[in-house]
Amino acid sequence: MEENMTSLIMIFGATGDLAKRKLFPSLYRLYEGKRLNKFAVIGVARNAQPNETFQQAVKESVLAALGNKNDLDEFVSHFYYQAHDAADSSSYADLKKFADEIDEHYNLEGNRIFYLAMAPQFFGPIALHLKSDGLTDVKGYKRLIIEKPFGHDLSSAKELNQQIRTAFSEEEIYRIDHYLGKEMVRNIEVIRFANAIFEPLWNNQFISNIQITSSETLGVEERGRYYESSGALRDMLQNHMLQMVALLAMEPPIKLSTDEIRSEKVRVFRSLRMIEGEQVNDYFVRGQYGEGSINGEQVPKYRDEPMVDKESNTETFVAGKIMIDNFRWAGVPFYIRTGKRMAAKSTKIVIQFKDIPINLYYQTEKLNPNLLVIHVQPEEGITLYLNAKKAGGNMDAEEVKLTFANTGANAMNTPEGYEKLLYDCMRGDATNFTHWDEVAYSWAFVDKISEVWQKTKADFPNYASGSMGPKAADDLLEKDGFFWWPVTDLDVEICQ
Ligand code: BG6
Repeated sequence: MEENMTSLIMIFGATGDLAKRKLFPSLYRLYEGKRLNKFAVIGVARNAQPNETFQQAVKESVLAALGNKNDLDEFVSHFYYQAHDAADSSSYADLKKFADEIDEHYNLEGNRIFYLAMAPQFFGPIALHLKSDGLTDVKGYKRLIIEKPFGHDLSSAKELNQQIRTAFSEEEIYRIDHYLGKEMVRNIEVIRFANAIFEPLWNNQFISNIQITSSETLGVEERGRYYESSGALRDMLQNHMLQMVALLAMEPPIKLSTDEIRSEKVRVFRSLRMIEGEQVNDYFVRGQYGEGSINGEQVPKYRDEPMVDKESNTETFVAGKIMIDNFRWAGVPFYIRTGKRMAAKSTKIVIQFKDIPINLYYQTEKLNPNLLVIHVQPEEGITLYLNAKKAGGNMDAEEVKLTFANTGANAMNTPEGYEKLLYDCMRGDATNFTHWDEVAYSWAFVDKISEVWQKTKADFPNYASGSMGPKAADDLLEKDGFFWWPVTDLDVEICQ
């Protein structure tokens, strides 16, 4: 892998929320850690403003995220601003001229990263202009980082892909899924493939089911317009949730190269059982939040949020049973659920192992199954639930927990997801970005579900804000003889 940390980074959407909250602080962290060699950033957005105003905004975003830093002035001196009209060729000509000057000034070897952090309708047109107006005509590398959503369904994703492929090859496209920047999501592969005790058990002989929950307490906030055309299925399941499923289910790659890992993930996507037509109601549950209370505060229902239709049929919650029809996983349900305005902000993966054949410890009514819990956020770590002898005279069993918490001394230094992803892109490592094949298969899967949901009006709202979703999501597991392990108490209380 080429390690060239010299680059001109052009951020389209540089006055937006993502740039402020994530990108500037992440770039600072790379700079502070001496992982950027020579670099400059051109922030691009519609409205005109002087460089100084932009630099001040960058400074404030770093201050807000990381506190005061001595070298901030030096850091922001690498930032430039250019007002830009995304639809106008002459605007790209100005940008090219400016980029060439900056490139020469900093000796950036013609390496360019184009980061599209803006509304998705601009992705395709910008990529086309970058090529036709000569911005991608460089002697170094050129890479495109593109935020989600990558299309709205399979056909729009294909169209977008065709547009950006005219300017960039697949190897030059870095489709962001920020869950792939999370420490514990990256850890899934290591936990699985670096431990002799798990991999032999990692199949349908020993695992009864896998549960992935990603719950949020926040509502839709000011993103009503986007969310109305998306919903939880497209916003979270098509990307983040299916990516976690793929990492949990894939075969060990023959080596840790980008191509090998991606091809194993793609094989998982290819084995997903397609759920369509009437089956959708048996395998998937949708929900929309009503009013309720979050941390003691009364919150409105989704239909009363700004820019949301009063009769909205958009789901803010989805739960589903995903089946992977291959040799390893046949018969093992992967249950997933995600939603807004739920009881807790938490992402957890629970691997539930099968019960042992008989319980010899008759005084212990029912032995707890062994669980491996991967805590993705807010806490990071793993817990293994075992049974061991209760202290005292009898041979009773009780559950014990072995926990590794990724906190403590190093916690403050755990790099943010975006920092890792930017770093990967600069190094030319696309492993933790989504390949087109993964995007296409996941849309094909999701489209079948949304087709059915679009046709039928749901009885919304059907869960109270501050709850864990509609009752139907519990029934989904109950009919298979399982229940959701409660994410909020998983650390302290595991028995039901
Ligand atoms: C984004 C979704 O991709 O992920 C948001 O668009 C969601 O709606 C967010 O809130 C959740 O990310 P995280 O990192 O807070 O779990």
